[in-house]
Amino acid sequence: MTIAIYPGTFDPVTNGHLNIISRGAKIFDQLIVAVVAENYRKKESFSIAKRIEMLQQAIDDLSIKNVAVKKFSGLLVDFAKENSVSILIRGLRVVSDFEYELQQAELNRTLNPQIETIFLPTDPNQSFISSSIIREISSSGGDVSLFVPSGVKKELDKLYKKEAL
Ligand code: COA
Repeated sequence: MTIAIYPGTFDPVTNGHLNIISRGAKIFDQLIVAVVAENYRKKESFSIAKRIEMLQQAIDDLSIKNVAVKKFSGLLVDFAKENSVSILIRGLRVVSDFEYELQQAELNRTLNPQIETIFLPTDPNQSFISSSIIREISSSGGDVSLFVPSGVKKELDKLYKKEAL
C-alpha cells in the first residue's frame, strides 16, 4: 500500500489545494493531508482546528474516501516517520515556486534520506491563487467563490464580518 503526505498550512484551503488532493488521492492508495499547527514563517489567520475543519468538509463534499487530514507540529520529516510514510507531494504553480520547493525537498531529504518529494503541476486555472491572496481579496470585499469551496467562503465572510452584509 503506497501512502503519501501532502503538507501545508492551508490558511485556508483553496480549490488549488483541492485539485492537488484529488489528483494525489488517485495516484496513491492513501493520502495524508498534513496541516502544520504553526508555520514558523507565517502568522495564521485561522486556528488549526478551523483549518482542519474546513479541509475535512471540502474533502467530504468531494467524496474522496482515501484521504485523512492530520495535524502536525515540529519537523515534517518526523511526522512522516511517525506515520511510516516516505513520499511527500507538493504542488508547483509557477516557476518562482520551484526554488523554494527545491530547497525544501533537498532539506527534507538531507534530514531523512528515505524521504522523496513528488511535484504535481497545479491546474493552470488555479495557478495564480494562494491562501494569502484569497484572504486579501475577501478582506477587501471581493468575491472569492471561484477560488475556494463554499464552506471556506462562509468562514472568510465570518472572519471579515461580512455575513450580515
Ligand atoms: N493551490 C493554491 N495555493 C497553493 C498551491 C496550490 N496548488 N500550492 C501552494 N499554494 C500556496 C499556498 O496557498 C500558500 O500561500 P500563502 O503563502 O499565501 O499562504 C503558499 O503557496 C505555500 O503554502 P503551503 O503549500 O501551505 O506551504 P507552506 O509554505 O505554507 O508550508 C510546510 C510548507 C508546512 C510543508 C513547511 O513549512 C513545513 O514542512 N513545516 C514544518 C517544519 C519543517 O519541517 N521545516 C523544514 C522544512 S524544509
